[in-house]
Amino acid sequence: MSDTILVLDSGTTSTRAMAFSPDGALLALAQAELTQHYPRPGWVEHDAAEIWDKTLACARDVAGKLGGAETIAAIGITNQRETVVAWDRDTGEPLAHAIVWQDRRTADFCETLRERGEEARVQASTGLLLDPYFSGTKMRWLLRNEDAVAAAAERGTLAFGTIESWLVFKLSGGRHITDASNASRTLLLALDGAQFDKGLCDLFEVPGAALPQVVDNAGPLATCAAQWLGREIPITGLAGDQQSATIGQACLAPGETKATYGTGAFVLTNKGSEMPHSQHRLLGTVLYQLGGERIYALEGSVFVAGSLIQWLRDSLGLIKSAAETEALARSIDSSGEVVIVPALSGLGAPHWQADARGVVAGLSFSSGRAELARAALEAMAHQTWDLATAFAADKAAWQRLRIDGGMSANDWMAQDLANMLGITVERPDFVETTALGAAMLAAAGAGIHPDLATAAQAMRGELARFEPAMGDDVRKERLGRWQKALQAS
Ligand code: G3P
Repeated sequence: MSDTILVLDSGTTSTRAMAFSPDGALLALAQAELTQHYPRPGWVEHDAAEIWDKTLACARDVAGKLGGAETIAAIGITNQRETVVAWDRDTGEPLAHAIVWQDRRTADFCETLRERGEEARVQASTGLLLDPYFSGTKMRWLLRNEDAVAAAAERGTLAFGTIESWLVFKLSGGRHITDASNASRTLLLALDGAQFDKGLCDLFEVPGAALPQVVDNAGPLATCAAQWLGREIPITGLAGDQQSATIGQACLAPGETKATYGTGAFVLTNKGSEMPHSQHRLLGTVLYQLGGERIYALEGSVFVAGSLIQWLRDSLGLIKSAAETEALARSIDSSGEVVIVPALSGLGAPHWQADARGVVAGLSFSSGRAELARAALEAMAHQTWDLATAFAADKAAWQRLRIDGGMSANDWMAQDLANMLGITVERPDFVETTALGAAMLAAAGAGIHPDLATAAQAMRGELARFEPAMGDDVRKERLGRWQKALQAS
């Protein structure tokens, strides 16, 4: 029977294909690392052709492991958000490197717009802030600085899109769409607008003709052409990776919250059909759209999480593997007053200081590897605590937190989160919730399950729970040191 769901999960550091059965069991997996290009300080680029080639290779690899594509009933796609690809509709080839979400090159333009007093109206309409993180200013930069992009715009063959849009275009042989969750990260979509907004496109100087059509997150969205996997397969689920993880964690009721600790840390609280308007520097975003109806989320985006541990490993050589941090943290009773502010690419929510820089504070001669490793893990709870405070101030206090992402496998960190936040932290045994969410959407979109809630119930696995066990005095002391260090960043 053909009821296997193939998920393409194209992230920042790697792209993957995973096959799921309708009960959520992982049947096969293939993964490929992506080359990171850093042409200048603060700039981060990807080669969109490499993303396509490697994603296709992973999909073929998984189909091979399944014994062919015959059992694949549907494809779901989830992706790193905000990253912009410019390509030519006629040739189907990229016109420049993709500008990655972490890239800060448009900080000056964002500042100019802020000085012109544009932020309040942009935030009211899109839920977002004027920060280089989002796609709109990256598109404008490509048009102004890449001759091939400008020439394609002139010819009328320019296509802009985020990664899911690029992959659908390639897989389908020319369908140019984006789902509402990804579209809501561009600064070009009003939270209540069905399609991209003309006024916003004018503000960010992005030609509407280059943009994709905004579609639902599940349903008969496109078709993968037979040439890629040997037969035509419907693409029935699309979502930005953080929205997908929220669905994969079954945060389908208002108030339910997940935090993903990957390269960065992203916390989303389901707001139901209520359009979120943060008063505390959080983001309002589309969680998903079905039948044209939107469910929204409030989001706190922290730029550095797992990448801090990578930096300790690759740049400082302090540890050999990320997993080592757990034993190091457990080997001492406290970090000995060492505090790390991981502002290595500025500070995201709720501070939004693009020019902030990292800080290691509280060093003494007794500080060693263990103190630094523990302080790095503690920084995750400190950053999450800042978000918890902002969410509570926005009347969206968390009752409990569901965590996932590579770093969440660290039991010490999971317990520290529960301790510092003073709430139950839940972690599914299967932490690949991003891919699972896309599988749930694709399963609902293909009719393998009747709706998203049934898909989530059927496909979600068992949970581990971490209960708070920390005295108020310890928490207070740590937060005091954190806030002091933050000021120095
Ligand atoms: O907003 C950026 C986010 O979508 C990136 O996620 O998992 O690729 O680091 P990830």
